Amino acid sequence: MRMYDLIYKKKYGGKMTKEEIDYIVQGYTKGDIPDYQMSAFLMAVCLKGMDMEETTNLTLSMRDSGETLDLSKIEGIKVDKHSTGGVGDKTSLCLSAMVAACGVPVAKMSGRGLGHTGGTIDKLESIKGFSTSISGDEFFENVNRIKMAIMGQTADLAPADKKIYALRDVTATVDCIPLIASSIMSKKLASGADAIVLDVKMGSGAFMKKFDDALALADAMVKIGTNAGKHTSAVITNMDQPLGLAIGNALEVIEAIDLLKGKEPKDLMEDCIALGTLMLIGGEVAKTHDEAEKMLIKTIEDGSALKKFAEFVEAQGGDPEYVYNTDMFEKAQYVDPIPAPASGYITHIQTDEIGMCSLILGGGRETKESVIDLSVGLILNKKLGDRVEKGEPLAYIHSNDKAKTAAATERFLNAYTISDSYEGGEVKTIYARVTADSIEKY
Ligand code: URA
Repeated sequence: MRMYDLIYKKKYGGKMTKEEIDYIVQGYTKGDIPDYQMSAFLMAVCLKGMDMEETTNLTLSMRDSGETLDLSKIEGIKVDKHSTGGVGDKTSLCLSAMVAACGVPVAKMSGRGLGHTGGTIDKLESIKGFSTSISGDEFFENVNRIKMAIMGQTADLAPADKKIYALRDVTATVDCIPLIASSIMSKKLASGADAIVLDVKMGSGAFMKKFDDALALADAMVKIGTNAGKHTSAVITNMDQPLGLAIGNALEVIEAIDLLKGKEPKDLMEDCIALGTLMLIGGEVAKTHDEAEKMLIKTIEDGSALKKFAEFVEAQGGDPEYVYNTDMFEKAQYVDPIPAPASGYITHIQTDEIGMCSLILGGGRETKESVIDLSVGLILNKKLGDRVEKGEPLAYIHSNDKAKTAAATERFLNAYTISDSYEGGEVKTIYARVTADSIEKY
C-alpha cells in the first residue's frame, strides 16, 4: 500500500477499506507516515466525508493504537459519561454521585481544563486534600466499595488520536464530524466501560453550533459505540449559555454540591436528569425513563447523593466537611458586580467568551503547565431571555487581582447582547435524545 494512492482515493470520495485505514492510523502513529501526507488525507476526509463503516473502522484502529483498560475487577455494569465540552459544565460531579447512589458503578477517567473549558480534576482539587492520583487498585476498590471514583488519565489511551488531534488542530481539520466522532469514541472505547452516555453540547460555547450538526455527531457516536458492542446513547444539550450560574473551579464544585442539597439551578438539574436516566438504563437498574427519573430525584430528596459525594471525597483523601459546609472552600479576595450598561433583555451570550473570562482571571490554563487559581470565576445573575435594568448586576466576578477583574469585565460585556425585546422563545436545556433505535427531539 502507498499513502499517496490512499490520499488520491479519498480525494475523489473513495471508500477506504479496514486494511487501508489500519495502514494509515498505525503507520502515522509509528512515524512511518509523515505529517504532510496525513494532513492531506485528513483534509480529504473533511471535504469528502466517511460513511459509518469507515468511521467505525477509523475509531477501532485508533482505540487499538495503545492500551485499553480492563475494568473487569469492578462488579456490575460500568457506565461512563462524556461531555463534548462546555462552559460551567459541572455535571460530572453531581451526576456521578446521583447515579452511584442508585447503585450504578461510576468509574471515571477525567482530564484537566484547557482553553475556555474547565476540567473535572481541577475542580475537585479545590477540596482540601482531594487527589485523583490514586493507584489502579485503589480506584477499583473505591468503585466496588462506594460505587464511585474519579482518577486522572494515566494509561496511554488511543495515542493515535493524541497525535492526529494535534495535527488537526493546526491544519483546520477539527470541525469534521467523522473525525470528531472517531476521536472521542476511540478514547471512550479504550476506557473500558460497558455502557457510554454522551452529552453533545450545541451552541455558542460548543464545537457544534447548529442542531443538524450536533444530531449528526450524536448519531455517529451512538452508532460507533453500538457497532463496537457497547450500550451507547446521547443527549444534545444547550451550550448557548453556561450551564448553571457558576463558572470557575471551586465555584462550580459549590454549585454541584448545592444541587445535591436540592438548591438546583434548573438547567443543571435537567442536564443531570437527561444524562442520568440514560446511565441508569445503560446500567440496567431502571427500565424506563420515568422510573430512572424518579430514582434520581429520590437521591436528592433523601440526601443519599450528597452522602455519596462526601464518601467519595473522603475515599480520595479530601475533607468531607467541605461537602456539608461549603464556606470552607477558599474564597477569592474581591467580589465585584458587572453592572448592565443598558436596560433590556439578554438576547445572546457568546458562551466561549464567558469561559475566557474565567481563564483571564486565572481560573483556566493557557498551556498545560499553567498553575491555576481555584478560587476565581464568575457567578451569573442574568441569563438568556432575562430582563435586566441598567446598572443591575449581570454577574459577579470573583478575583484576586483588580487588573484581571477589569480585563474580564470588558470581555464579559462584549459577550452579552442586551436588546429591547427577546423573541427567542423558551430557552431549552435539552434538544434531543439519541439511542441506537430512536431519535427524540424536544
Ligand atoms: N474532543 C475530542 O476529543 N476530539 C475532537 O475531535 C473534538 C473534541
